[in-house]
Amino acid sequence: MNQGTPVPSIAAVVNLQGSLLAAHEARVSVYDRSYLYGDSLYEVVRTYEGRFIASHMEAHMERLWQSARLCHLKIDQSREELVRECERALAFFKSQSFATRDAYCRLVLSRGVGRIGFSPSALLTPSQFAIIVQPVESPSEEQHERGLKLRVVERFRNHPNALDPAMKSGNYLNNVLAFIEAQQQGFDDALLCDAEGFVTEGTTFNVFYVRRGILCTPPLPVGILDGITRRTILGLAETLGIECRESHFQRERLYEADEVFATGTVKEVMAVTQVDGHRIGSGSPGPVTRRIRSAFQADLLRLLR
Ligand SMILES: Cc1ncc(COP(=O)(O)O)c(C=O)c1O
Repeated sequence: MNQGTPVPSIAAVVNLQGSLLAAHEARVSVYDRSYLYGDSLYEVVRTYEGRFIASHMEAHMERLWQSARLCHLKIDQSREELVRECERALAFFKSQSFATRDAYCRLVLSRGVGRIGFSPSALLTPSQFAIIVQPVESPSEEQHERGLKLRVVERFRNHPNALDPAMKSGNYLNNVLAFIEAQQQGFDDALLCDAEGFVTEGTTFNVFYVRRGILCTPPLPVGILDGITRRTILGLAETLGIECRESHFQRERLYEADEVFATGTVKEVMAVTQVDGHRIGSGSPGPVTRRIRSAFQADLLRLLR
């Protein structure tokens, strides 16, 4: 007997293939390729002042299509349709009396449902989408002041010739394992290196450090996600006249850095105050991090105008 799907006790709604549902009503087939093989892609977009920022949405859709090219996944929906369905899910979320906060919107796109087996001929449906909308859990101001305590874990970031990190696939098991490794050692989250010891990125965020006023972040070819927040920060640094380099470095550079920060759609710009037990700078967000975070927020206000 179906007991209903257990869902987290948060107010979430789902747009499942165009049907707007309460989260506990949303069900996906066990023959979905996402479930069987992690054979899916995803994007996370958030709202500000209750709406999506058009340029953000465009960047996320562009990356979804880039991910699809990298994993040979044919997206059967049009870009316009997926944006429209995200908007419908958001409107439904806002129509619920609980939805007073900004929204986190996760678009999951599966290769489809089919028989067990890798062959595309096993597929019985077009690509399938599910859009989960729930209140966004951004870090509080206290969390920003405390900053993140990160572990550079032993687990490597996927090699670009394996599951290319440039592809935002639904297969995040390597990152989940990195996160567990860091948490088991008492850290908030993990940073991963490649097999040669070069720092790549965090489990769900890109990383920057500041040394003598110069900003540095790993380059895309090291094998990272082309983070949309990372791109924004690179642009803002240029506008602010902060010299910025994209170059390979090993973990020790972070230990000696004046500042380190993480970037991502939900975290935005968040200070890292400890790496592997080494205190970074004064142990609280540094001046460049604060300046960049303020510029990021000012830029959002500009986009919302
Ligand atoms: C592995 C990884 N790196 C970086 C990011 C940050 O990307 P964005 O700024 O586009 O959210 C994410 C976001 O989920 C991620 O999963």
